[in-house]
Amino acid sequence: MRKYAKVVSQEPVGAGVFLLRLEAPAVAAATSPGTFVMLRVSGGPEPLLARPFSVHGAEGDHLLILYQVVGRGTEMLSRVEPGRELACWGPLGNGFNLDCQRPLLVAGGMGVAPLWFAARAMAERGAEVSVLFGLAGAGGYSELLAVLQDQAEAGKISLSFTTEDGSLGEKGLVTHLMPQALERADRVLACGPPAMLKAVASLAAEAEVACQVSLEAPMACGVGACLGCVVPAVPGGGYLRVCQEGPVLGAARVDWERL
Ligand SMILES: Cc1cc2nc3c(=O)[nH]c(=O)nc-3n(C[C@H](O)[C@H](O)[C@H](O)COP(=O)(O)OP(=O)(O)OC[C@H]3O[C@@H](n4cnc5c(N)ncnc54)[C@H](O)[C@@H]3O)c2cc1C
Ligand code: FES
Repeated sequence: MRKYAKVVSQEPVGAGVFLLRLEAPAVAAATSPGTFVMLRVSGGPEPLLARPFSVHGAEGDHLLILYQVVGRGTEMLSRVEPGRELACWGPLGNGFNLDCQRPLLVAGGMGVAPLWFAARAMAERGAEVSVLFGLAGAGGYSELLAVLQDQAEAGKISLSFTTEDGSLGEKGLVTHLMPQALERADRVLACGPPAMLKAVASLAAEAEVACQVSLEAPMACGVGACLGCVVPAVPGGGYLRVCQEGPVLGAARVDWERL
């Protein structure tokens, strides 16, 4: 369903990272962790294709989006002022299966956006939630990290960091923390760059723990029509549309060698 969402606030929470709060009652009521919306900045001189963003949270009539500026669309979005309306389709795609007791969530960079929504929802249901959050470096992310740490404490979520430059938490890749954490996990949920997801899927498979990954792919339509978002599938080859069959997929359904 196509709707318009009003910008309530837009706060910088890091270098080029923004927390966008939208008034979108129908979408907020229907969303669940793992789903996404297509947002289009409308009304300017340059028409722009809509861009996909995971839902980072839903609070009453409000939808939260956590995003990083990487190109023209996200840069235009970051300049949108409160009160302005955006075209907003959603919620789209499937969500995470939250039915587990000791989930291990593995986030790389902005992959934390959908996973944090899942973490809070599962903690509210009484699950013992562990989140491993990997960044290249903590520099520029201090506000976001402080917010997550506060919410983790309030929600009884175990949150560990890794940074490749050693500026926060353990130095190295986020997957370095996985072998120990997997010993007690009954499901892995992951979102981040493809190389990280491939490594997460492999470690979870070795430990025989079910794993769901949320994939990102370039999207033009968001509703299954353009085939711009396909990823290679197993068994039997073929492809899956990230916007329709995903964005959350069982890790065993993805052909990581062909991705
Ligand atoms: C289901 C889904 C959920 C997403 N959720 C979030 C989110 O919660 N927060 C967030 O910050 N981003 C999210 N993204 C990524 C976001 O859609 C892109 O960053 C955005 O479309 C970039 O638009 P742009 O016009 O600014 O950049 P463009 O000018 O289109 O591209 C700039 C650069 O970013 C790369 N890029 C563009 N789109 C993607 C993509 N999907 N994956 C990887 N690289 C890309 C391009 O190759 C290029 O190098 C999500 C993507 C998908 C598919
Ligand atoms: S974005 Fe068009 S089919 Fe998925």
